Formats: sequence, C-alpha cells, structure tokens
Amino acid sequence: NEIKIFSPATVANVACGFDVLGFCLDSVGDHMVIRKVEKKGIHISHIEGFDLPYETELNVAGVSALAMYNTLDLDFGFEIEIYKKIKPGSGIGSSAASAVGSVFGMNELLGRPFNKTQLTAFAIQGEALASKCEHADNLAPALFGGFTLVKSISPLKILDLPSPDGLYATIIHPQIEIKTSESRAILPTEVPLNKAIEQWANLGSLVHALHTNDFELIGDALNDVIIEPYRSQLIPEFKLVKEAALQAGALGVGISGSGPSIFSLSQGLDTANTVKEAIASVYKNTEIVFEIHVSKIN
Ligand code: HSE
Repeated sequence: NEIKIFSPATVANVACGFDVLGFCLDSVGDHMVIRKVEKKGIHISHIEGFDLPYETELNVAGVSALAMYNTLDLDFGFEIEIYKKIKPGSGIGSSAASAVGSVFGMNELLGRPFNKTQLTAFAIQGEALASKCEHADNLAPALFGGFTLVKSISPLKILDLPSPDGLYATIIHPQIEIKTSESRAILPTEVPLNKAIEQWANLGSLVHALHTNDFELIGDALNDVIIEPYRSQLIPEFKLVKEAALQAGALGVGISGSGPSIFSLSQGLDTANTVKEAIASVYKNTEIVFEIHVSKIN
C-alpha cells in the first residue's frame, strides 16, 4: 500500500537538442513516498528540503498525480511525501522529478495500468505548472532512464535512445536560481537558417553517435549555436567553466536545461572526475557557492 521511490535529476537539451533531448542522472534525485489512503483524492502530506506548496493544485507532483487520478474511477486516494533534494531552478529537472515521481509511484501501486509514455503525458501537466509551457525533455529521461528524444508532444512520442557504455556526466550547479520561464523569455522566436542547419546537423550526429558508441562524434556534436549564446549570459563564468572542462578532457560542455547548471560529458569515470576538479577550481576562485556531481549515464 506504500512505495518509496527515487526520482532522478535529468539534463535537458544536451546542447543541440533544445526541448527534445535529455538524459538521466543516477546520482542525484528526490525521494518520495506514495501511499494508498481511504480518503479520495490526492493529498500532499509532507514536504522536506525546500519550501513548496502543500495545495495539490499548486504542487507539481500534485498536479501530475491529479491528471492521472482523474482518468480513473477509484474509491480511494493517495498521499504523497516529498523529500526534495534537487533545488528548484537549478537546471537539472527539479520540477520534472516531482512531476514524474508521483505518477510513477501511483502506477506501481495500481499494478502498472499505464506505460511510460502515458505517465509522461500526465507528468507534462505538472511540469507545465512550473515552466509555464509543455515540454517533456526532462520528464522522459526521468521515466525511461538514459537518453531520450521527444519526437512530438501531440501526439506524445518518445524515443528511448541507447547510452554508450562508459559515458559519464559531470554537472556543476552554481547556487543561483534561474526560473525556466524567465530563461525562455529571453530566447528569440526565430532563428537564422544557417544556425538551424548547424543545430540539426549536430542533433542528428549526436543521436547517431549514441547508436554507434562514437565518443569522438559525441564531442563534435555537443554544440549549441542557437540557445547558448543567450542563456550563457545568465550563468556566472560559463565560458571559463567550459574551457576548463574541455581542457581537462571532456568530450563536450553545455548548459543543463535552462541553467544555471552546466553539464559536461566524458568518456570514463577518471576523466569525469578530472573534469570535476577542473571546473570546481574555476568557481573556487570566486564567491560562487556550488555543488558538483558525477553521474554514470545508463
Ligand atoms: N527544454 C527546457 C528549456 C528545459 O530549456 O527551457 C527546462 O525545463
């Protein structure tokens, strides 16, 4: 009647795949407890870690849970406890982890009536509360694991991509908050054709590289010529962090989701740890408080 779950952090966009590509981190995430209760409806009974609303309709986990609950005719309800570890506004899918966690847990307790794509569709409604728009590039990898590509939102189609063995992410998170809605508002609504060509060539190459375990091509393709020029201005020392990571052997570097976290990908744990030291030393020379994680992608 009760399930404890780990709901992982995720990196959306992955440089060239704005709003469609994402991957899952195995070392950072929230914990949640989902429980069947007699009282009908969805009730948030406990929140730890960050100050988030208890009202179901105002809570991301509550909204996605309700979206699922309302499609069913149940004579019982669910209670949700949230142990939030992922800081909201950090760029590693904090709202997505909440949105996914509740529906995943409920689905397990109900004997899995829904598949992962259907769960993502419910979670989109929770995510939309936080980001003010519907996108699934953090939700899909949190549910499917590894890399995913959201082919379309309507109808929702998610491609479960392979992750080459030995691919690691290093994520640095300067402790400032950037709201997704705000970092979307600064983006242009039109892009020049030459930039679009470069970006989709990179995205296609990256997907090919994941299928062929081509680490060199992963590095070559991890380039964002459309979004990064705008958003990088919101991130302290972005250029220095990027240079340090590449010098330390990272395959490529980019903004994680809507920032301010910065991700880099490396081949092998040793390189990922060297990158960790290198980028940490950039922020150690400043006043910026930060967290840093290394995670295998699988
Ligand atoms: N694709 C989204 C963005 C992810 O970059 O705005 C953040 O939720």
